[in-house]
Amino acid sequence: MSEAANDSINRLSELTLEEKASLCLGSDFWHTAPVERLGIPRIMVSDGPHGLRAQLEEADHVGIGGSAPATCFPTASALGSSWNPELFRTVGEALGREAKKLGVSVVLGPGINMKRSPLCGRNFEYVSEDPWLAGELATAMVHGIQSQGIGTSLKHYAANNQEDDRLRVSAEVDERTLREIYLPAFERVVKLSQPWTVMCAYNKVNGIYCSEHHWLLTEVLREEWGFEGLVVSDWGAVHDRVAALKGGLDLEMPPNLGVSDAAIVAAVRDGSLYESILDDSVSRVLHLVDRSQPALREDASFDPDDHHALARRAAHESAVLLKNDGDVLPLEPEPGSTVAVIGEFARTPRYQGAGSSQVNPTRLDVALDELQSALAGRAEVRFAAGFGIGTTDDGEQQLLQEAVELASGADHVVVFLGLPGEDESEGFDRTHIDLPANQLVLLHALAEVHDRLIVILANGGIVRVSTWEDRVAAILECWLSGQAAGGAAVDLLLGVANPTGKLAETIPVRLHDNSSYLNFPGEEGIVQYGEGIFIGYRAYDRLIQPVSYPFGFGLSYTSFRIDDVDVSITGSVPDGDLAVTVTASVTNTGRRPGAEVVQVYVGDIEASVARPLRELKGFVKVHLEPGETQHVSCQLDERAFAFWSRRFQRWVVESGEFMIAVGSSSRDLVATETITLDAPRLALPLGPDSTLHEWLEDDRGRELISKRDMRLLQDPELIKVIGTMPMHTLAAFQGMALSHDELDELIAEL
Ligand code: BGC
Repeated sequence: MSEAANDSINRLSELTLEEKASLCLGSDFWHTAPVERLGIPRIMVSDGPHGLRAQLEEADHVGIGGSAPATCFPTASALGSSWNPELFRTVGEALGREAKKLGVSVVLGPGINMKRSPLCGRNFEYVSEDPWLAGELATAMVHGIQSQGIGTSLKHYAANNQEDDRLRVSAEVDERTLREIYLPAFERVVKLSQPWTVMCAYNKVNGIYCSEHHWLLTEVLREEWGFEGLVVSDWGAVHDRVAALKGGLDLEMPPNLGVSDAAIVAAVRDGSLYESILDDSVSRVLHLVDRSQPALREDASFDPDDHHALARRAAHESAVLLKNDGDVLPLEPEPGSTVAVIGEFARTPRYQGAGSSQVNPTRLDVALDELQSALAGRAEVRFAAGFGIGTTDDGEQQLLQEAVELASGADHVVVFLGLPGEDESEGFDRTHIDLPANQLVLLHALAEVHDRLIVILANGGIVRVSTWEDRVAAILECWLSGQAAGGAAVDLLLGVANPTGKLAETIPVRLHDNSSYLNFPGEEGIVQYGEGIFIGYRAYDRLIQPVSYPFGFGLSYTSFRIDDVDVSITGSVPDGDLAVTVTASVTNTGRRPGAEVVQVYVGDIEASVARPLRELKGFVKVHLEPGETQHVSCQLDERAFAFWSRRFQRWVVESGEFMIAVGSSSRDLVATETITLDAPRLALPLGPDSTLHEWLEDDRGRELISKRDMRLLQDPELIKVIGTMPMHTLAAFQGMALSHDELDELIAEL
């Protein structure tokens, strides 16, 4: 036993019941409880995923009060579009350094809930609609933060995919969908990087609050995945402290002081809670406090300028170039030309979302200022606001007119559009995915006077482009890209940086095309995940729906060629050591340095259950100089080919053909290879409830039937009709195919 473990046990035995109970609750909004008598200190936790929101004074959990200045990095939906694990790791290291400086021991992030619907108000805080991508990227961030001796809190576990009624709603999700879509990102991060803590979600899953969900918190998270850390509640997610302890929730935040602690003490005293359950949670709290100490003793510092530069690099990599007709970008204004900058967001940056993740930035780049200084002496930059933020008053008409006038006389027009803060935030969902009406009116008016509009978008969740994209020449989706968003947008606009981002979420033609549309956000306290495993591109592809821009899509100022795709197999499913290696070459065929993401998708061609046409199972981002070629390789294991079988309660790979497709987006696949895998056929034990088909598919069952004179049961025409009937039903049809006695004999012989 380690010294630390011994130490914890010693201290555990010295704690009174009341002290143990107190340790399972925080002491205030952001601190664990100290036990001064025994020298157990308190530690501080703080949001969040893209920058520290350390509230050193007034505290709240929805971003109302101020917080210490910290670098605001791109939010998760932006950073997720970088498809770059190394960047996630580097940003994580920076977050760790800042946490250390601020005395914060656990950073409350990353957030990796799936983007089930584009309407979720908090999509800006989540990485992707795809669990593999979210899992890979968040693993790197957890490694980065924790490399600094600072903990993470992977959140919100699980199925927290909307803000509407988020504190109570029950997400009704079948197990296969949980296992294949809503849990795998958590599973991967837990297995590969052991976050110090996992934060349970507010909502219920299938009728049980996540904070009390034994299956989620204990059976799956700890027993199956081997989670070694502590489970903390989302802020206010605990309803019954004793039930939560029994479910596997160690730490309640913020504390319901005098209520939750008293309930724990009473439950131990009256025997309704085993003290050993309490002890387990207390040990985990003590361990968390212990492992936080070394970083707290360091004399930590960070360079805000370096971190700002990193935020700018991260914002470069997060942007996705959606459209660039006639290579209008990068912008190279002729000497003496006029560049019209239109849109309030060029002057008033929109760079992060609202709520608990809101950071007080150390600096703020303003796109208009950045462009003016970048083009000083080369071109004249002129500005018109074009629209007001969150307003629809009379002044709008004048703003519009000024903008149109400016655009009509300008050589180049760059329009900064996006979602104002009041349109998307933690706490509520959107009701549509369009840009605000005043911005759309402006855009159409500008298109009347200028035919090469360049649109720069700032929004956390996706916005619909299908109603206007044919009226503009270029669209650069910059998301909510943090405090350096303004500078980064200008770098990208002028070609100082080359866009390398790829969509981590599909942009549908219409909201109605999204598979969750009919079931979002639910009603009367329940949201049915009726679309099952088919979310995001899994649904759009399976339904053969046109989309505006597919998952994985993103242009560059250079061009790439992916070729020499090769697939090789070693090991096998029966031996449990299957390894499929996919290799490819990627070449920069253009004239600028750039980066391409080689994406590997797998599809099960002969599945016995409904499966997506293809699913992302690997990707590699490569930076290439003009003319440079690199060889990339991805390893796929058995799980890449498996589905979760409800019947067998396990991951199952079925024998047969699988498609492996490689490309630069989910709908731009340059090579598709077919491989054949052999896997053991799984079957439930035969019995009276098994169908005739199941008996005949089973070697032994078929043999027993064919040994007897049961011709009707072997007649191909009849089998088509009665094959799906259970044997005991067939036996009940007197004189038809077999009798009850014969069925009993068959079963006895089995
Ligand atoms: C959010 C969490 C956050 C917590 C603390 C909650 O409202 O859902 O993501 O970490 O507050 O601010």
